[in-house]
Amino acid sequence: MAARDKASEQLNEYKKSKTAPDQITTAPGAPVGNKNAIQTVGPRGQVFMQDFVYMDEMAHFNRERIPERVVHAKGAGAHGYFEVTHDITKYCRAKIFEKIGKKTPMFARFSTVAGEKGSADTARDPRGFALKFYTEEGNWDLTGNNVPIFFIRDPMLFPSFVHTQKRNPKTNLKDPDMFWDFMSLRPETTHHVTFLFTDRGTPDGYRHMNGYSSHTYKLVNADGEAVYCKFHHKTNQGIKNLTGAEADRLLGVDPDYATRDLYNAIADGNYPSWTTYIQVMTFAEAERFRFNPFDLTKIWPQGEYPLIPVGRFTLNRNPKNYFAEVEQLAFSPSHFVPGIESSPDKMLQARLFAYPDTHRRRLGHNYLQIPINCPFNAKVRNYLRDGPMCVDDNQEGAPNYYPNSFSGPTDHPKFLEHKFTLSGDVARYNSEDDDNFTQVKTFWQKVLTPAMRVSLVENLVSHLKNSQDFIQKRAIRNFHQVDPEYGNMVQTVLDKVKKSQGASL
Ligand code: NDP
Ligand code: HEM
Repeated sequence: MAARDKASEQLNEYKKSKTAPDQITTAPGAPVGNKNAIQTVGPRGQVFMQDFVYMDEMAHFNRERIPERVVHAKGAGAHGYFEVTHDITKYCRAKIFEKIGKKTPMFARFSTVAGEKGSADTARDPRGFALKFYTEEGNWDLTGNNVPIFFIRDPMLFPSFVHTQKRNPKTNLKDPDMFWDFMSLRPETTHHVTFLFTDRGTPDGYRHMNGYSSHTYKLVNADGEAVYCKFHHKTNQGIKNLTGAEADRLLGVDPDYATRDLYNAIADGNYPSWTTYIQVMTFAEAERFRFNPFDLTKIWPQGEYPLIPVGRFTLNRNPKNYFAEVEQLAFSPSHFVPGIESSPDKMLQARLFAYPDTHRRRLGHNYLQIPINCPFNAKVRNYLRDGPMCVDDNQEGAPNYYPNSFSGPTDHPKFLEHKFTLSGDVARYNSEDDDNFTQVKTFWQKVLTPAMRVSLVENLVSHLKNSQDFIQKRAIRNFHQVDPEYGNMVQTVLDKVKKSQGASL
C-alpha cells in the first residue's frame, strides 16, 4: 500500500493509542451488553420503550446537527501560540503585548465564506482568517479575512450582499445574475471584486495566504493615549495561489484540499506561522487623511503608514475533535481586551452586535462556557447566571446582584475605555460614491503585473459571461472607471468568449 498521509492514518493512530477497547456505556454511563441489536419480543419484533440503549442513541443522533454558520460555514482550525517579537507598548497596553518573548495561547480558524459546510475548499471566495487569543485579561478575537478590504462599506447592505453569494430562492442554484447585479449596482465592491478574481481569490490552502484585520481598530496605551491601527499577518510559508483551472479541478477531486493540507502539515510537525504587523495612524492624521480611514473598502497605503512588526503566531496542534473545537468555536469582533477597542468603522460597529447575536442562536447563550470559547487564562467573575446549558459552577455562592455588600466582584476605573467626543447630524448617509476607484487604479496599475492582469480578466470573464448583457455592461462600466485598459480587456475577452460560445451552439 502506498504511504498514507497523517489525516488518512488518523484511525490507525487512535488504535495505537489504546491497549484494548473501552467498555461501551450509555450516556449516563451504564455498561452496555449488546450494541448490535435492538431489544425485541422474539427475533422479528416488536420493540420496547424500555430499550434505553436504543432510545439513548437514536434520540442523541436525531439532534446531532447544530445550525451551520450563516457565512463561513466550511472551515478548518488549529491551536497555536502568539509570541511578541517587538515592543509596541507605546501604542497598546494590552497584556498580550506587554513584553518581548511573551507567549499567549491561541486558536485560528480559516474558512471560505459563501459555501455550505460541505462545500469545496478551493472555491473562488474570500478566506476567513479568524484568531482567538486566550489572554490573561480575557479572550481577544481578531476576526479578519485574507484580503485587506471588503466589498461594502455600509452594513445595511450585508444581508443582501450575502444573499447574492448564496442560492437563488427558487432554483436553489448559485446565480451569476444575482452576484453581478448587486456588484455592478454598488461600485464600491470593485476593489474587492478585483482582488477576488486575481489568483489570490483561490489561495493554495490556508497556509500560503496573508490575513488582515481589514477594519481599523483603536489601540490605547498605559497613559490612555489612543491611535488607530490595522493588523496584517504575513504568511511565513510564502504566498501561493492556485490558478483558476487548478482550483476548479480540485473542486471535484479533493473538495477538502485546504482542510487536509492544514491537518497534515501540523501532524507532520511542519508548523505554519505568520508574522503580525500593525499600521498606525494618529487621530490628527485620521482627520486629514484623503480617504475616510474607517472605510472598509480602502487600505492605508503602506508607503505612508508603514508596517510595524509586532510578533509571530505558530499553529502547532490539531484539534482533538472537530465538532468540539472548530464547529463550536465562536469568534466576535466585540471580544476586546483592555487596550484594544473599536473604531467608528460602520461595518465593524455592525459586526460587534451580529456575532454574539448569531452565537446565542447557533450555540446557545452560554456559548462562552463551551471549553474552546472559554477564556481559560482569565478568571470570569460577573453577574451573569443560569440559562440553558449552564455547565460550569455558575459562580457558586457569589452574590448574583450588583452593587452588593458581600464581596461580590467589583469594577475598577483603570479598565475604563478610551474617552472620545462625537458630533454630527444623525441621518442615513448613502456612501455609494465615496471614491470607489482610486485605490483600485493603483492596484491595477502598480501592483498587478501584466500577466496577473490577464489572469484576473480571464477569471473574471469566466464568471461574468454567465450573467445577462445589461448587467455585464454595467459591470464593465465600473472596470472602465478604474482604468480604461481594465474595462477594455474585460470587454475584449468577454466578446471573444461569447463569440466562441455562439459558434459552438
Ligand atoms: P504598496 O506597493 O506599498 O503595497 C502593495 C501591497 O499589495 C503589497 O505590499 C502586497 O501586500 C500587496 N500585493 C502584492 N501583490 C499582490 C497581488 N497580486 N494581489 C493582491 N495584493 C498584492 O502600495 P499601497 O500600500 O499603496 O497599496 C497599493 C494597492 O495595493 C492598494 O490600493 C491595494 O489595492 C493593494 N494592497 C494594499 C495593501 C495595504 O494594506 N496597503 C495590502 C494588499 C494590497 P501583502 O504583502 O500584504 O500581500
Ligand atoms: C462569520 C456577520 C463582515 C469575517 C460571520 C458570521 C456572521 C457574520 C453572522 C457567522 C458567525 C458564526 O456563526 O460563528 C458579519 C456581518 C458583517 C461581516 C454582519 C458586516 C456587516 C465581515 C468582515 C470580515 C468578516 C468585514 C473580515 C474582515 C468573518 C469570519 C467569520 C465570519 C472570518 C468566520 C468566523 C469563524 O471562523 O467562526 N460573519 N460579517 N466578516 N465573518 Fe463576518
